[in-house]
Amino acid sequence: MSSNPSPHFAIAIDGPAASGKSTLARLLAQRLGLTMVNSGAMYRAITWKILQQNIDPQDTAAIVKLLDLITIQCGSDGIMSTITIDGVDPGDALRAEAINNNVSTISAIPEVREKLIDLQRGYLTHSSVVMEGRDIGSVVFPDTPYKIYVDAAEHVRAARRGKDGEVDSIAKRDAADSKRTTAPLVVAEGATILDNSDHTIESGVAAAIEILRQQGLVIPD
Ligand code: DC
Repeated sequence: MSSNPSPHFAIAIDGPAASGKSTLARLLAQRLGLTMVNSGAMYRAITWKILQQNIDPQDTAAIVKLLDLITIQCGSDGIMSTITIDGVDPGDALRAEAINNNVSTISAIPEVREKLIDLQRGYLTHSSVVMEGRDIGSVVFPDTPYKIYVDAAEHVRAARRGKDGEVDSIAKRDAADSKRTTAPLVVAEGATILDNSDHTIESGVAAAIEILRQQGLVIPD
């Protein structure tokens, strides 16, 4: 056992696309004074780079080779995670339809996941985090006691993405993310499910705080 364990901890927020987990994670982080880490942005950023380099998303060998050639820098602006690839922040390009359509293929590649999981765990060197994604409670931080699986009915999620201006085949992406062999979307052991279908943003945050208190996190009123 380490004599000097990290003073930092992770709150894992997992769930399907457009379940409202990003908003929830952001507001929770704000309320608790932690850094919010959007792990999906990391998978999107690698997908962006692959498409920029005109690499076929099905060409796993070329993608694995690219991983050794690029520099991915993950950081924080004090509130939210930031990411650059070879010094470039892809910004709004991360939400492009081409990324939506290819990110599940790229994120199913074990070498991609390995690289990003190291960077995700690295955040705890500097701060405690609220990290949202698909495998945060199951793979990235399986030992954290603080795990929430955010779910919402499919029509609610489709409406949410429509409102964000995204035409996104959510059902297709969720199916791919749930069926892949490596780190599929699952309800992690020890996670509490929060059904976000009928919550307002405020009541969803309140429900999450209640869950975290039940999981043992001390949160002042
Ligand atoms: O959270 P998001 O919709 O921006 O995530 C985009 C994709 O990234 C998602 O369809 C699957 C992948 N992803 C993943 O495989 N593991 C994570 N921890 C986060 C995202």
